[in-house]
Amino acid sequence: MRMGKVIAVSGKGGVGKTVVASLTIKFLLKEKDGSILAVDADPSCNLHIALGIERPKMTLGSLRERAKRRPKSFDLSSFIEYGINMAIVEGRCDLLSVGRPEGKGCYCAVNSLLRESLGKLSKDYDYIVIDNEAGLEHISRQTDASCDIMFIIANPTPQSLATSLSIMELIRELENEIKETYIILNRAETATSDMLDRLKNKVQIAGLLRTDPSIYEAEREGRSLLDLPEDSQIYCDFKEILSGLI
Ligand SMILES: Nc1ncnc2c1ncn2[C@@H]1O[C@H](COP(=O)(O)OP(=O)(O)OP(=O)(O)O)[C@@H](O)[C@H]1O
Ligand SMILES: [Mg+2]
Repeated sequence: MRMGKVIAVSGKGGVGKTVVASLTIKFLLKEKDGSILAVDADPSCNLHIALGIERPKMTLGSLRERAKRRPKSFDLSSFIEYGINMAIVEGRCDLLSVGRPEGKGCYCAVNSLLRESLGKLSKDYDYIVIDNEAGLEHISRQTDASCDIMFIIANPTPQSLATSLSIMELIRELENEIKETYIILNRAETATSDMLDRLKNKVQIAGLLRTDPSIYEAEREGRSLLDLPEDSQIYCDFKEILSGLI
C-alpha cells in the first residue's frame, strides 16, 4: 500500500513554522513529482494566505459539528469521509484546515479526527506537510505521531531553544513514531558559535535560515510565499537543507 511522506513543522509561537511549511511546499512543487496536501493544524488558520489559497469554508472542527446533525441515512464514517473531501481546498497544492471546535467544545475530538484522517489521507497523497500550532500540545495529543520528518523551528533565543528541547524530550518520552527529528534554526544570524556548539551536543540541526526581507515584502504585498524568487536567499538556503533530507 502506498504511504505518502509526512513532514510536520513545530516550534514556539512566531518562530517561523508557517514560513518553513510554505517553503517545504514550494520545494516539493519545484523539485519533486507527486501530489501534496498541506494541513493547517493551527486553529488560527493562516497557512492558506502564505500558500495563496482561498480561506477554507469548512474545517475539521466545523465538520465535526455538522456530523452531529447529519441525516440519519449517513453513517458517521462515510459522512466524515465525504466531509473531508468537501473540506479540502484546491490550489497549487491541496489544503485541509483543522480549525477549532465550535462553541465551548474541547479540542480532543477535533484532534482525534485529525489523527484518524491523516492515517487515511497519507494513502491518497505523496506528501503531507503539517503546519502545527505553537507549543507541545500536538505532540502530547499525538496528532502527528507517525510522521516521517519533524522539523522543530527555533530562533536563537533561550526561550525558543528551551521550547524546542522540550518538544524533543516529549517526542522521546512518548515514543511517538517520528522517524527523523531535526532542528532548523531560523533568523539564525544572531546565533553565537557557543550556542550552536551547545545545541549540536543535544540535537541534530538540519540547517540555518537567515532573516530575509523578501518574506516581509511578499507578506506586505499579499503575495504567496510559493512565489518567492528561486534565487532569494531564504529559498536557496532552504533548498540546500531539504535536498539532503527529502
Ligand atoms: N527567515 C525569516 N526572514 C524574514 N521574516 C521571517 C523569517 N522567518 C519568519 N519571518 C516572519 O516572522 C513572522 C512569524 O513567522 P511565521 O508566521 O512563519 O511564524 P509561526 O511560527 O508560524 O507563528 P505562529 O506561532 O503564530 O503560527 C512572519 O511575519 C514571518 O514572515
Ligand atoms: Mg504559523
